[in-house]
Amino acid sequence: MLRTVILAAGGNQRVKHMVSTLPVSRDIVRRYVAGESLADAVRVGHELATDGLQISFDRLGEDCTDPAQAQATASAYVDLLTRLRDEGLTERAEVSLKLSAVGQALDESLATDHAAAICAAAAEAGSMVTFDMEDHTTTDSTLGILTVLRKDFPSIGAVLQAYLRRTEGDCRELAYEGSRVRLCKGAYKEPESVAYRHADDVDRSYVRCLNILMSNPGRPLIATHDPRLVAIAGERARWHGRAVGSYEFQMLYGIRPDEQRRLVERGETVRVYVPYGDEWYGYLMRRLAERPSNVGFFLRSLASKS
Ligand code: FDA
Repeated sequence: MLRTVILAAGGNQRVKHMVSTLPVSRDIVRRYVAGESLADAVRVGHELATDGLQISFDRLGEDCTDPAQAQATASAYVDLLTRLRDEGLTERAEVSLKLSAVGQALDESLATDHAAAICAAAAEAGSMVTFDMEDHTTTDSTLGILTVLRKDFPSIGAVLQAYLRRTEGDCRELAYEGSRVRLCKGAYKEPESVAYRHADDVDRSYVRCLNILMSNPGRPLIATHDPRLVAIAGERARWHGRAVGSYEFQMLYGIRPDEQRRLVERGETVRVYVPYGDEWYGYLMRRLAERPSNVGFFLRSLASKS
């Protein structure tokens, strides 16, 4: 219930203005976001690399309906990839891209062109791109763009959301040799007609999807902080005789950092998703919705500062 309210608030412009301008928001943002600048992202990237972690950088931004802004985002990704190469980080770092940030809602072919330019820059820098998955109205479009661009850039990663009823089928379609598939639970407000609404059903779907990805060729990217699912994934990998390194664990910056390092010490490949930039509002609201105690912390901080 609280999750639904927070996600609904995420689309409200007045709430957005209030939360974005409150100084206390920045305290919470700092937990989940590397910083506002590219330099902040690079600094965090080096810290994580020193600890043996891999990285996926996300330049924050979404729901862009202005062609100039879409172009600016695409250019910022190209700059990011050039900087990662210059910093010697591309061996460990890829980038995650929301197609809505490069104009998907405006014009699908414009978004495809920008995504292709980013993929070309990644290939030149020796890195890769993963397309984030947004709300269910964009799933077909995102998978369509992925299919088109994988012809030239086969390493592009897909994200599938276990809460969507369609996802087992999508896993089967994408579980082929060389295909990188990031499996997450899903973070948007979705209707029951397309998504499981109860946590147990989402978890069961996650395990069914995991079974498909682990038992087929392709590279499963297990994006969850859920200790039970992390344990099941490890067990399934062994059951299917997968070599360590033929799959990855992935977690978000600021969430369960000790577990990220514990998995690395066990010899697992672990990638941390590192968002940066000043467009952090939508990302923050999704993180708050995942954990009601975060909202309590937010409200307490607000009360103590007012
Ligand atoms: P769950 O929410 O059950 O959390 C398990 C445990 O993790 C909690 O008990 C808590 O300890 C900790 N935890 C989880 N969220 C927390 C938070 N916000 N603050 C503090 N602790 C927290 N979604 C999507 O729709 N599209 C996408 O493209 C992506 N991309 C993506 C990439 C990567 C690398 C990850 C890890 C996740 C995503 N997600 C996503 C988000 C995903 O769908 C999901 O919302 C979150 O990962 C939370 O779900 P968990 O699987 O961690 O389980």
